[in-house]
Amino acid sequence: MAETAIRPKSFLSGRVAHFTESVIREMTRQAMLHGAVNLSQGFPDFPAPAEIKRAAQEAIAADINQYAITWGAKTFRDAIARQTQLWQDIQVDSEREITVCCGSTETMISTLLAVCNAGDEVVIFEPFYENYGPDAILSGAKPRFVKLRPPATSGGEWTFDEHELRAAFHHQTKAIIVNTPNNPTGKVFTRSELELIRDLCVEFNVLAITDEIYEHILYDGTQHISMATLEGMRERTITINGLSKTYSVTGWRVGWAVAPPAITDAIRKVHDFLTVGAPAPLQQAGAAALAMPASYYQELAEGYRKRRDRLIPVLDEVGFRCFQPRGAYYVMTDISAFGFENDLEFTKYLVKDIGVAVVPGSSFSKDARDGARQVRFAFCKRDETLDAAAERLRRLRIPK
Ligand SMILES: Cc1ncc(COP(=O)(O)O)c(C=O)c1O
Repeated sequence: MAETAIRPKSFLSGRVAHFTESVIREMTRQAMLHGAVNLSQGFPDFPAPAEIKRAAQEAIAADINQYAITWGAKTFRDAIARQTQLWQDIQVDSEREITVCCGSTETMISTLLAVCNAGDEVVIFEPFYENYGPDAILSGAKPRFVKLRPPATSGGEWTFDEHELRAAFHHQTKAIIVNTPNNPTGKVFTRSELELIRDLCVEFNVLAITDEIYEHILYDGTQHISMATLEGMRERTITINGLSKTYSVTGWRVGWAVAPPAITDAIRKVHDFLTVGAPAPLQQAGAAALAMPASYYQELAEGYRKRRDRLIPVLDEVGFRCFQPRGAYYVMTDISAFGFENDLEFTKYLVKDIGVAVVPGSSFSKDARDGARQVRFAFCKRDETLDAAAERLRRLRIPK
């Protein structure tokens, strides 16, 4: 038999050729390697609520251990519909408008695969949550980025340019992804900003795919507005959410989409072929999670407000310029004062020499020059973790 030289790269799909590994997940591995305090990846290092864990244990003991209905266990879908009505004042048909997936991550890719054709474009605000660009590409679409600009003053807000956003919309635009409250910036989109996006979606016949996974983590009296509640948007919005952040169970991998019936049908098919279903006992526990009292959500937000206000003064003190987050549990910071060549060099130094892992700002942008003066801290951590990071960060020196 003639021997053919194996060229491993020739086996690979062109789709993944330009993907790099997730920098966020890589930073967690770096933190473990260097024994650093991990303020990179957005997962809590404190326990999940006891009632929810108990519900999961009971579900397994009660033998809810086989496949749930592909698009989600009925009790869980009913709980999602009930809470969507309560929180958003949106009536949802749990039989025809909800798909439960393996985390909001799978929900996003299932949604994009369900709605995108080759040549379509998807508008994405940048800095963005790392998965959106690759998700768009995997679904055959082209991501088109619109910049969120950092505030000029520390108390200001991240903003976008209305003209730049309009210029991103045209006849090939299929969808816009809106993540509010936003990772990594902590921006909470205002009603007038959402209305502006709404007007463009209607004018260009575009879908809004909203990632609302941080909807309950809000500060300073800001209010979460769900795109689907805006007039004219219910029928063109796919609202994505999940258990990960609200109930501190990022490892459970349970998320969902709320969408009009025809779109739900398509998402359900993709989801079925990708994963068949999300973990059955954890959907049962998810129904218990969604039944938590109102006080749970107030305490959740207040807990994160305290953590934010514990970390940011330390960052200010040692020389970072912080952009105050209004929601989610991250703070973007400007690192210019430290005199490093770029965010990657600074991040390496921070994890190896100072012992704190963060995420370089450029990993949230298409062009590495954007974000090259920024790093992101996650503050979804115990006080002890934040204090240990503070102690190490105080060793940082600003060049004269
Ligand atoms: C904006 C955003 N969406 C989605 C996810 C992932 O969510 P899930 O755990 O539900 O897949 C994250 C996690 O950090 C996130 O920040």
